[in-house]
Amino acid sequence: MPPFEKPLTFWLTGLSGSGKTTLATALAEALALMALPSQLVDGDTLRQQQSAGLGYSRDHRRANVLRATELCRSINDSGEIAIAALISPFRADRELARDLIGAGRFLEIHVATPLIVCEQRDPKGLYRKARRGEIKEFTGISHPYEVPLTPHLALDTSGIALAECVNQLTALLDLEFA
Ligand code: ADX
Repeated sequence: MPPFEKPLTFWLTGLSGSGKTTLATALAEALALMALPSQLVDGDTLRQQQSAGLGYSRDHRRANVLRATELCRSINDSGEIAIAALISPFRADRELARDLIGAGRFLEIHVATPLIVCEQRDPKGLYRKARRGEIKEFTGISHPYEVPLTPHLALDTSGIALAECVNQLTALLDLEFA
């Protein structure tokens, strides 16, 4: 089946600082080299646009996931691959995303970099603030992250090189298109 007949959503879930955006960007570049157009749906960007005004409560995170889901669906409907990079910490919300996008075109990728590594990276200084109590409901510190139980792939970016992670992601595509 030609790829454009089955556009997929790669849904990258994981802690802040786990490497979701880096992976998503590298995956998009690899797909472009394979002549497969894709679009990113990134949590940080989303929160400056469609999800501006949403916070980090349980309900707001679900609303954020639903907005990302709508975007992924319309990207898939236009024949392109969607790459979502969102913490999306709640299992039920990710299952909702999968059901709305369609289980047959939804790939759940756990960016499984351990909390201790994410916290050491702390690219935005948010973990430090969360530890001091200056940010409430911070995922992994004062708010839950529910680990995917049966992801299509789990990648610990502290133990695997970026190129290898991308290889494992595009290999999934081969399986899906086989
Ligand atoms: S999600 O939980 O709703 O899926 P999303 O991926 O869109 O989160 O946004 C996460 C980003 O928001 C983090 O990378 C971080 O920069 C920022 N952020 C600010 N406050 C929080 C918080 N309380 N919990 C997690 N991330 C936060």
